[in-house]
Amino acid sequence: MRIPIRSSALAGLAIAAGLVTAALNTESVYGQPPVPDKAKDWTYVGQGQCKVCHNGPKEGAQWDKWHNALHAHALELLETDAAKEAAVKAGLTTPPAESPECLKCHVTGYDPVAKAAPAKITPADGVQCESCHGPASEHLKDAKVLKFTPAKISEIDILAHQLVPTEETCRGCHNDSSPTWKADRYTLENGEKVGFDFKQAWAKIAHDHPEGVMEDKYGGKYPVD
Ligand code: HEC
Ligand code: HEC
Ligand code: HEC
Ligand code: HEC
Repeated sequence: MRIPIRSSALAGLAIAAGLVTAALNTESVYGQPPVPDKAKDWTYVGQGQCKVCHNGPKEGAQWDKWHNALHAHALELLETDAAKEAAVKAGLTTPPAESPECLKCHVTGYDPVAKAAPAKITPADGVQCESCHGPASEHLKDAKVLKFTPAKISEIDILAHQLVPTEETCRGCHNDSSPTWKADRYTLENGEKVGFDFKQAWAKIAHDHPEGVMEDKYGGKYPVD
């Protein structure tokens, strides 16, 4: 994982424009999956939207990488015998795939109080892009204004409305309030066993931009450090 120069430059612009608080819109609290700040008007759009712009091989094929990994199957997992067993142990009387106690970490943006997923979220998509990057409605507006004209990147801060997740984002779900938490799932270099190790876990789902110049399908080119 790295902090792209491009992002830091844009972060500078964001500070100048006073947009940093907007970028911190969604926060995760230890023990709770990331929840959007209701005071802001970002809304979930669904992962299908992201594939159009974030799946080119030269950009790092983020969509394919997500789709081929475990987060995309987080809801299906709740149909398994292992899940049913975990639910019984947790004292649930409803099937895990219908229980808010499980869905809150296995479905993007699921609200356990309202007992519902956000309007445009398909629960079967499991833990998708917006679980970590935040609701993307404003990012989509920015991206459409850009129309993939590199010159406009300096005018519009595409990062202002999208989160760059950190270890804390992961720990909102990867923590000991998960009924299948294993305190020894990961082994550190010094031999110590831990339930979650950001470095190793990120390596399993990494989807950075490749080095060099990123080209989108409309012919726009973006410098990547
Ligand atoms: C209309 C095209 C378009 C769509 C649709 C789109 N994006 Fe983007 N996105 C961009 C462009 C252009 C950038 C800036 C260049 C880059 O970093 O890829 C960007 C940047 C990002 C970044 C920051 C990457 C960085 O540089 O650190 C994230 C995260 C992101 N998008 C997530 C999403 C998610 C999640 C969705 C779907 C909900 C989505 N995008 C949909 C065009 C789009
Ligand atoms: C706090 C968030 C959270 C809650 C609540 C949660 N899960 Fe999970 N679940 C996870 C995470 C994260 C993983 C991935 C394994 C890991 O790293 O802990 C997971 C993995 C699993 C697995 C795979 C077991 C494994 O060892 O990989 C099963 C089965 C499962 N969950 C069932 C359930 C059931 C059933 C419920 C409700 C009773 C539930 N989960 C509630 C976060 C959660
Ligand atoms: C909204 C909740 C949520 C967030 C946020 C989340 N995860 Fe997960 N994660 C899960 C669930 C649920 C599973 C189990 C999915 C399955 O096995 O199908 C899982 C599984 C995984 C696995 C496979 C199990 C393992 O530990 O080997 C990895 C790796 C992983 N997550 C890494 C991450 C990283 C890195 C982040 C942060 C950048 C993150 N996750 C953020 C819910 C989440
Ligand atoms: C489990 C959490 C998680 C999920 C799900 C996830 N991402 Fe990411 N994504 C991250 C993290 C962490 C980074 C690294 C941020 C950094 O570079 O500091 C990242 C980086 C990115 C980047 C920037 C890459 C770069 O090198 O600048 C883009 C673009 C992106 N993600 C798009 C997506 C899209 C599109 C999806 C869904 C198809 C998605 N992500 C799903 C956690 C996630």
